[in-house]
Amino acid sequence: MKITVLNGSPKGELSVTMQSVAYLAKIYPQHEFNIIHIAQRIKRLETDQAVFDQVIDQVRASDAVLWGFPLYILIVHAHYKRFIELIFERGAEAAFAGKYAASLSTSIHFFDHTAHNYIHAICDDLEMRFVDSFSPDMHDLLNEEGRQQLARFGQQFLKAIQNQAPTQRQYPPLTHREFFYQPELPPNPVATAGKKVVILHDEQQPDSNLAKMVARCRSALAGEVTVVNIHDIDIKSSCLGCLECSGNYHCAYTGKDGYIEFYKATVMTADVIIYAGRMVDRYLSSRWKMFFDRIFFNTHTPVLVGKQVAFVISGPFSQVPNLMEIFSGFFEFQGANIVGVVSDESGNSDDLDRLLDQLLARALAYVQAGYLRPQTFLGVGGMKIFRDDIYGRLRTIFAADHLAFRRMGVYKTFPPGELNIALLNTFVAPLVNLPPIRKKFDKMIKKQMVQPHQKVVAKARMKSNEGFCST
Ligand SMILES: Cc1cc2nc3c(=O)[nH]c(=O)nc-3n(C[C@H](O)[C@H](O)[C@H](O)COP(=O)(O)O)c2cc1C
Repeated sequence: MKITVLNGSPKGELSVTMQSVAYLAKIYPQHEFNIIHIAQRIKRLETDQAVFDQVIDQVRASDAVLWGFPLYILIVHAHYKRFIELIFERGAEAAFAGKYAASLSTSIHFFDHTAHNYIHAICDDLEMRFVDSFSPDMHDLLNEEGRQQLARFGQQFLKAIQNQAPTQRQYPPLTHREFFYQPELPPNPVATAGKKVVILHDEQQPDSNLAKMVARCRSALAGEVTVVNIHDIDIKSSCLGCLECSGNYHCAYTGKDGYIEFYKATVMTADVIIYAGRMVDRYLSSRWKMFFDRIFFNTHTPVLVGKQVAFVISGPFSQVPNLMEIFSGFFEFQGANIVGVVSDESGNSDDLDRLLDQLLARALAYVQAGYLRPQTFLGVGGMKIFRDDIYGRLRTIFAADHLAFRRMGVYKTFPPGELNIALLNTFVAPLVNLPPIRKKFDKMIKKQMVQPHQKVVAKARMKSNEGFCST
């Protein structure tokens, strides 16, 4: 059988992920694995229609497609995303329809599930027959168990194609509503009061809902606001994956385009950042993805700590919970507080006016009050992955992160992070777990857990809630 492998790594042949594909090709030589470097050649694919058509012809002539990609900022690389956009823009969906598909990534398991959800949903949108996703750690190929599981994944994928196994669509098609936003209510601007507010958007059509939503956000604020179309930032290309940045944050693009300077001067110094975008397939545009990929010049060091961020989206946002999961994971890890999301998918123009006004007013109120919601599992869990990897196997390469994590106290969360916990575990735990003591302890456990909290509640005094989020 002929499997077309769409390589999503900007490193082309030097891709770690493609080594897993090469391994499959070697152990199943009776099948052809035809690797096409997509992310690395996106400029050519975009500018030369004949080259793009050749790829589509190869897909058409194959029995199945393997989407092979590295994780890039919680999803796929911007260039891979752009290729997916081109499939729809150029009406090439038919070449994919009915083909068997699977996804294979390598990563360090930081939001690998959101990338696979995305690719699976794209396969469903292309009416492909999606079989399975396989998401090993980037080093799993180096151990026997990893190789065995990879071989089994390959085997059952090939079998599914051979047997024409039935598959079921998992992600329903998106429905887009016809709605033209026309701001109507007079704005009641909230003073920025010395806080730096930045609105970033990617809209290129002045009459679109998104353009009007951005304008409404601007008019909801009195004072200086920086509004930037990310198409106007001089960004040469997306991240190359070269890791030149890993030792000292020195990106290979330094001095070659305007992104780093812009990000440092405008985004990293802001108090409130509004991200406004139009949904393109099941994410934002590939331009937005490029913007997010290039943030990697800071490697794994959070640089948005304490900032208030909000999202203004045009498109069926609530139909793609994966996108909110990506936003939450990324911005929680960055240390930012998510104020909220407003989209144009429901309500009339008046509703949207009010929602946008309220979003901006809340962002300002939050920044003034220093309100930061605790991180959820997405932020806490994600940070622990980085903490462990940077302290451990990745420290030699990501030396800058290691120093930053030390400075930021990230390693303090290693168990036992605090002296009293260490003492408890060393001296008290063995005693408590002696069977007769444990029996008594189990009976008191509920009371003891709540006692320190009750003491805090008992000491609490009345506070005013005036002024905070009166909208
Ligand atoms: C810019 C950049 C962003 C990355 N983002 C993620 C991520 O969000 N989650 C993750 O688990 N790994 C992430 N990684 C790690 C890569 O996915 C991993 O090293 C992968 O094995 C690289 O595969 P490749 O050699 O095929 O490109 C990122 C790496 C780079 C350079």
